[in-house]
Amino acid sequence: MFSYSGNDLYCEEVPLADLAARVGTPAFVYSAQCILDNYRAYDEAFGDLPHTVCYAVKANSSLGVLSLLARAGAGFDIVSGGELFRVLRAGGDPARVVFSGVGKTAAEVEYALSSGIHCFNCESEAELALVDSLAARLGMKAGFSIRVNPHVDAATHPYISTGLSQHKFGIEIAEAEAVYERSRAFGNLSAEGVSCHIGSQMLDPSPILEAVDKVMDLAARLRAAGHPVAHLDLGGGLGIAYRAGEKPPAIRAFVESLHQRLRVAGLRALVEPGRSIVGPAGVLLARVLYRKRNGRKEFVVVDAAMNDLIRPALYKAHHEILPVRRNTLPPVTADVVGPVCETGDFLARDRHMANVMPGDFLAVAAAGAYGFVLSSNYNSRPRAPEVLVEGARWRVIRRRESYQDLVRGEEV
Ligand code: LLP
Repeated sequence: MFSYSGNDLYCEEVPLADLAARVGTPAFVYSAQCILDNYRAYDEAFGDLPHTVCYAVKANSSLGVLSLLARAGAGFDIVSGGELFRVLRAGGDPARVVFSGVGKTAAEVEYALSSGIHCFNCESEAELALVDSLAARLGMKAGFSIRVNPHVDAATHPYISTGLSQHKFGIEIAEAEAVYERSRAFGNLSAEGVSCHIGSQMLDPSPILEAVDKVMDLAARLRAAGHPVAHLDLGGGLGIAYRAGEKPPAIRAFVESLHQRLRVAGLRALVEPGRSIVGPAGVLLARVLYRKRNGRKEFVVVDAAMNDLIRPALYKAHHEILPVRRNTLPPVTADVVGPVCETGDFLARDRHMANVMPGDFLAVAAAGAYGFVLSSNYNSRPRAPEVLVEGARWRVIRRRESYQDLVRGEEV
C-alpha cells in the first residue's frame, strides 16, 4: 500500500509529499486498505471454523482505526478500561471483547461487566475472586479464560517475550487445571475458554503452534472434567517485516497451519493480533531540518523524535527510512535523529540511506503498530496527528495537539 510511482512515495493513491505539505510533520499516515486486508486475511483464512479475530487495541487505538475494524466485524482484545471506552466509542460490539492484562482494577472489571464483554482473560486466582464478587454484586455471570503460561520461548526481544515462567504473565500451565477446579466454588463465573499469548514480533510461528498444542491438551482435559470450555484464545504475536527483505509468516498460511489442530479440538478459535494488522499499514512522516557532521559522523536531523516513535530507542528496533521523493544523489550513511535532548533520541543509526536535504520529507516505515500509542509529550512536544487514507481520499482522524492541549488539566 506504500509504493513509489516514479520518484514519489504514495499511500494508496495519495502522494505522501502532498499530504505532508497539507497536514505538516511529524504525522502518522495509515492505509485503510492495508488494515482491512490484514484483518480479512485472518478472518477469511479461518474459513468455516468458528472463530473471532479480536484485534489487540494496544497496537493502535485511534477511533478511526477501531471503527474501521468494528465495521469489518472485528472483535477486540483490550487491556484497560480506557481501551474499552475507545472500543465502545468506535462502535465495537462488547459481546466480541476479551479483556486481557495482569493488573485489572475493580473499577475496570465493573465497567467491563456492565458493558457486557464476552470474557475476562484472568491471570491470577485473586483476579478470579474479584471478577466473581463484582459479577455477584451485579447479579450476573462472568465468562473467563485462564491465561496460561505454556513455557514456550517466543525467541523474540526480551521485553516482548511473555511465555516463560520468569515472566509476570499468566498462570503456570501445570497449575491451571487445579485453578479451574477451584473456580467451581465461585458462583458467578463460567469457564468460557483457555488463553495464552507467548510474545510479540515472532518471525517464526512454530513457538505459537507449540503453545497451541499444550493449550489444546489442557482444554480437552478441562472439558473431560466437565468445564464448559468453548474457546481457545491463542493470543497475538505474528511478526511483520521491519527490514527490507525480512520474511514474516504470511497471515493466511499461519492460520491455515492451525486448521487441522482446531478441527480436532472442536472449539471456537480466538486470536488477538495487533501488529500484523496495523503495523505495515502505517508510516511516520518527518521533515529534514538540518544536515550536520560531527567528526566523521553524519547526521540527518528531522522533526520527528523518540516521543513520536520510541521503538528504536526502547527496543533498538529497525524501521526502514524512505525518501518521500527519490533524488539522484549518491546515498549517505547517517544517523537519523530528532530534536529531543537525549542521545537515545534516534530513529536510525549508521543507516545507508537516501541523501536527503533540509526541507525533504522522510517516511519511517512499518510505524502503524506501537507507534502513536507509545508516543508522549516528552520535551513538551505536541503529539503528531494521524491521517487515514482510503483510495485517493484522506482525512485527519486525530488532529495535531496544540500548546493548549499540552497544558490541559494543569494549574499554575
Ligand atoms: N494479546 C496480548 C495478551 C498481548 O499482550 C499482546 C501484545 C497482543 C495480544 C498483541 O500482540 P501482537 O499481535 O501485536 O504482537 N510495544 C512492543 C510490543 C508489545 C506487545 C505487548 N503485547 C513493540 O513495539 O514491539
